Amino acid sequence: MRTITIKPAAITHNLNQVKALAPKSNVLAMVKANAYGHGVAAVLPALQQADGIGVATLREALEARQLGWDKTIGLIEGAFTIDEWQQAIEHDISCVIHHAPQLAWALEQIPAADSATRVVWIKYNTGMNRLGFNEQTLVPAAKSLHDAGYQLILTTHFANADDRSHPLNAMQIQRFNDMLSILRETISHDIKGSLCNSAGIVNFPEHHHDWVRPGIMLYGSAPVIDQSAHELNLQPAMEFGAQIIALQTVSAGDAIGYGSRWTAEQDTKTALVSIGYGDGYPRVVNEDAYVTVIDTNNESYRCAVIGRVAMDMIVIDVSAVPGSSALNSKVILWGDAPHVDEVAVHAGTISYELLCRLSLRPQRL
Ligand SMILES: Cc1ncc(COP(=O)(O)O)c(C=O)c1O
Repeated sequence: MRTITIKPAAITHNLNQVKALAPKSNVLAMVKANAYGHGVAAVLPALQQADGIGVATLREALEARQLGWDKTIGLIEGAFTIDEWQQAIEHDISCVIHHAPQLAWALEQIPAADSATRVVWIKYNTGMNRLGFNEQTLVPAAKSLHDAGYQLILTTHFANADDRSHPLNAMQIQRFNDMLSILRETISHDIKGSLCNSAGIVNFPEHHHDWVRPGIMLYGSAPVIDQSAHELNLQPAMEFGAQIIALQTVSAGDAIGYGSRWTAEQDTKTALVSIGYGDGYPRVVNEDAYVTVIDTNNESYRCAVIGRVAMDMIVIDVSAVPGSSALNSKVILWGDAPHVDEVAVHAGTISYELLCRLSLRPQRL
């Protein structure tokens, strides 16, 4: 048994946290990368109170339409070809326009006035230096789109919003706010703004503007470096589970697993757990990694992961678990404890990557 259990109620709760933090803004709930690994079909019903969803590829947008999502879909890197632009028009998808080729397609093929594709998100490069028009090219691009009948949302993306004190944040905010004022004064007062991802929502409440774009916090993971998910009242939306499939006692001096990386200092009760990197549990976890064992008496135990993570199994130290109740126990790789944010620290990465890299093998519940 290896399972990924999704908790729609947690996602709805987290969405409500976003709304409480940004009560005046519309919410574009980010569901790219299969809803951060949670499964877009499982997640969309929990996001009914969002104003729209955000995806990274046209394919993801079309999948959401097929699943019945009939509100706004924002395509955050826009169309990659003119053919994609045409499909976006056909399926009422709102595109980001971040460079000249996309601008040309939009001016060449103008959707009907009632099409959602008439709303475009014009991207301003305020310091991330990946996508977007610069200070010189943005105003003429915005003017030509406005003159062609488009409704504009000025957007940008933070590079360091997780760290409130990073000096680039203030610069990005200033550039964004200045540009929005210029566009409103010189083109139209109806131009909207969208600045904040999850970390921005938490760290910069005075800059939420018209649309916020939460991703990771919807899934219950902390978006900022100085507050935990628990402190932010976010609930984990995923439980990654497995099972103890065998028990052993290794003697002092015995080494466990590939590379004989862990050697028992004393006789140790160990358990084999049916999970590995073939499921998406990270191979690179350090010696602080642990799991929660819920034994057949429903008692919980914190157990260290020992030895190297293999493709299909890991070994844990079950010295604390009574022998008679350990076999077949449930094992939580991440969920309430350990939280995926902790596992990410143990693996030297971020929760986003762990969630997105789950494989097809675990059963989805
Ligand atoms: C443009 C844009 N907006 C919002 C988000 C959501 O970010 P987060 O998951 O950190 O809230 C992302 C994610 O990478 C993004 O690329």
